[in-house]
Amino acid sequence: MLNEDVEKVLITEAEIRYKVTEIGQALSADYADKDPVLVSVLRGGVIFLADLIRTMSIQVTIDFMAISSYGPATESSGVVKVLKDLEEDIIGRHVIVVEDIIDTGLTLGYLLRNLGSRNPASLNVCVLLDKSARRILDNLPIKYKGFDVPDAFVVGYGLDYRQKYRNLPYVGILKKSIYEEAEKSSGGID
Ligand code: PRP
Repeated sequence: MLNEDVEKVLITEAEIRYKVTEIGQALSADYADKDPVLVSVLRGGVIFLADLIRTMSIQVTIDFMAISSYGPATESSGVVKVLKDLEEDIIGRHVIVVEDIIDTGLTLGYLLRNLGSRNPASLNVCVLLDKSARRILDNLPIKYKGFDVPDAFVVGYGLDYRQKYRNLPYVGILKKSIYEEAEKSSGGID
């Protein structure tokens, strides 16, 4: 069972629901009549996006990007490859990047440069979890934020370990034994 692999629940389902609703209401107030484009980054961000838009009372457009980093060797450069681009033309549109978690900040840094170069009317960031202890890129303009999380192996509500645990309805810390065992048998964490 999924739950058995979790050491500790960090943020409960009810806490997430409450916070997501709060953010959705703030967005509805700030973007009334602006038909914003909410951009989610595959794959983890879709759970937050799906819940968020259903708390919003205004018209929205959703779109998706898929990007992959070139791996640990290039981590600090934040170099990424676009695997799937937006379908919407965002020139002159109000864009909100919706992310599940900001860790080093490199993904978001790349996204802001990439989306910003397309001349949107505005560009803001909405993130559920902020793991600031691991930040490499500072001063990111995060306008809407859910929770701070410690520098631990968090899974659930979109966050995975080897593509698993995304469907947990809460955010929890994965038991060490799970990734240590996997590491032993494969010789690396990823
Ligand atoms: C996660 C998350 C962000 C990124 C944040 O995605 O959804 O996009 O990592 O990390 P950073 O701040 O260090 O750049 P991940 O690459 O794990 O892909 P996933 O959404 O498919 O899980």
